[in-house]
Amino acid sequence: MSSTRQDGPRERGVFRTKSVEQSLADTEEPEHGLRKSLSALDLTVFGVGVVIGTGIFVLTGKIAKENAGPSVALAFIVAGVVCALAALCYAEFASTVPVAGSAYTFGYASLGELPAWIIGWDLVLELALGCAVVAVGWSGYIRSLLDSAGAHLPQALSGTHEGRFGFDLLAAVLVLVITAVLVAGMRLSSLVTNVIVGVKVTVVLLVIVAGACFVSGANYTPFVPPSQPATGGSGLSATLIQLMAGFTPSNYGGTGIFSAAAVVFFAFIGFDIVATAAEETRNPQRDVPRGILGSLAICTLLYVAVSLVVTGMQKYSDLSTDAPLADAFKAVGHPFFADVVSFGAAVGLTSVCMILLLGQSRVFFAMSRDGLLPRVFSRVHPRFGTPYRSTIGLGVIVALVSGFTSIDVLAELVNIGTLFAFVIVAAGVLVLRAARPDLPRAFRTPWVPVVPVLSVLASLWLMLNLTAETWLRFGIWMAIGVVVYFAYGRAHSRLHAERPPVRGR
Ligand code: ALA
Repeated sequence: MSSTRQDGPRERGVFRTKSVEQSLADTEEPEHGLRKSLSALDLTVFGVGVVIGTGIFVLTGKIAKENAGPSVALAFIVAGVVCALAALCYAEFASTVPVAGSAYTFGYASLGELPAWIIGWDLVLELALGCAVVAVGWSGYIRSLLDSAGAHLPQALSGTHEGRFGFDLLAAVLVLVITAVLVAGMRLSSLVTNVIVGVKVTVVLLVIVAGACFVSGANYTPFVPPSQPATGGSGLSATLIQLMAGFTPSNYGGTGIFSAAAVVFFAFIGFDIVATAAEETRNPQRDVPRGILGSLAICTLLYVAVSLVVTGMQKYSDLSTDAPLADAFKAVGHPFFADVVSFGAAVGLTSVCMILLLGQSRVFFAMSRDGLLPRVFSRVHPRFGTPYRSTIGLGVIVALVSGFTSIDVLAELVNIGTLFAFVIVAAGVLVLRAARPDLPRAFRTPWVPVVPVLSVLASLWLMLNLTAETWLRFGIWMAIGVVVYFAYGRAHSRLHAERPPVRGR
């Protein structure tokens, strides 16, 4: 099939688009196609498996303590609404272009090659760094369990803490083991994921049900703590919106809810990854929207419930920032529950890492298949049917990053990258509706253009509530991406040469 669009001349240069038909046809290439084995339930489990993780198990306590108090529950609702708007746009795109690569593929079909490359490069930030962040969080829980058992890792192998440098051995090993599981194939990945997700959801429900027995109404007063000047919150460490508006950087109060939402947004990252598995879904037109919206709804309910319970069990100012859910049980005199929660959290974070890495390898796969990255990365394993080269290559890099990097800075960077992808996807829905009204859409975003426009504005609003430092780092990362595109991708793109796919390498 020709890569030219069927309804008129295709844009040239860096805004050339890849037709939806070409994207779909690529999946039929025997050497570059993925196995179609997933159902709506698999996708929902995938979504819940990656969404519930460090955000709820770790960030809830930190953000309640430092930014929002009990109103962290409202921050989860704000972040959930932003994600729901984005989900409605993702669902239309995913059901129209059910091909590996998520926002990257959608962008290629609607906005053009350079915007698509930028999205793909951005997704590398979201998924690979997100995986590294979660691996480090996992390692902390495991060390805590080891400590309870009287076993201690040396400082040099326990990661970087409070300025003291160390290699995080456990985080790196986790990433390498997960890489091996993913190379072995989707079936094994799904099976392992199902078991882990079951454990994780059980533990979250345990926190809600058992924790509710220890809630004290007094801990909810004040529900929205009065605004306070942020200590050290000036210059680049202030949120961009505060800098732009000339406000004194502050925590708590009404604005604290939004800056909290911009951080706890991390807890929702992952529902979009369901879209990256569209190509491996038996009935993507029906199942992908169900998987995305279903997993998002379940997670929002659980987050609000967990944050209300935990801030009700312990005064927000007393919450721990390392293992808040477990430590809240210790605070009310139930260390057994605390250990169960720690164990469940450690198990649960494993699946988050796994699915983030899976999503990452699929985006990389799609970019390579299009020639924007070396094609050698998109060749699938003859026996396992997985893109093993990109999976192994990225797994090793993520293992090193997780070993050498501390998590706090990276989490915000992951958030800004994800929100940026949301902006592009929502804009892409509008563009594709105008450019290709003829395409069959199993799921149509309601109230277009209102929902996509609101999605763009809501995502931008949360981005503005991240720190200026984060914006700076994000800008540098994206600038590097543009250089790589012009140095390699532009000339090697399959659309550039309009040549048939290269086979047999
Ligand atoms: N949403 C995932 C988490 O909370 C990334 O860990």
